[in-house]
Amino acid sequence: MKVRFLGHASFLIELNNSKILVDPFIKGNPKASNIDINNIEADYVLLTHGHGDHVADAEEICKRTGATIISNYEICNWFEAKGLSCHALNHGGKFSFDFGIVKYVMATHTSSLPDGSYGGNPGGFVLWTQSESLYIAGDTGLTMDMKLIPMLCPKLDAAILPIGDNFTMGIEEAVMAAEFVECDKVIPCHFDTMPVIAIDKEKAIQAFKEKGKECLFIEIGDTLEV
Ligand code: NI
Ligand code: MN
Repeated sequence: MKVRFLGHASFLIELNNSKILVDPFIKGNPKASNIDINNIEADYVLLTHGHGDHVADAEEICKRTGATIISNYEICNWFEAKGLSCHALNHGGKFSFDFGIVKYVMATHTSSLPDGSYGGNPGGFVLWTQSESLYIAGDTGLTMDMKLIPMLCPKLDAAILPIGDNFTMGIEEAVMAAEFVECDKVIPCHFDTMPVIAIDKEKAIQAFKEKGKECLFIEIGDTLEV
């Protein structure tokens, strides 16, 4: 699969001929000024939770592309009321889409929507096909529930984990999360967007390396083949 980093916690994943956009927050992110959202193609938009730094550009991109939102029940209701196409999941549930399976898994965080509406409980996603598998943790602290993922899902090729601390796990806990989900390739996110989540990238790379894991930073706009 191809994983393109669009800044903060936004990614465009190409999996099994589908384009899957995750947590689009681009126009409001000065660090992602090199990305034009009018050039983003998407078949599906995955939203981990309702916070503005994860859903900000979803409406505009879905209206232009006709992409289907995949999120929790409350977030889907909120976007359906705006006329968008949605597929609601809830924790522990999975569904087989045309590109593969999506499972909505636990995250420990909060999830109000930009207008203050109730956004349900936050989550993460595991995506898999016959041959590929990716975990998208969403905003979360370290949680023992992560240990269920390797028991319930195929062996992960990569895990997208928040590492910026303050609002989510920091580096040390993200290393433990990678151990909990039994994944050796970590794509970090949710760092450096603002001063409170600034990180030392070399320190992160070293911390994962000490546990035999790769921390694969992607420049904003660049694509990694996993
Ligand atoms: Ni959040
Ligand atoms: Mn966030």
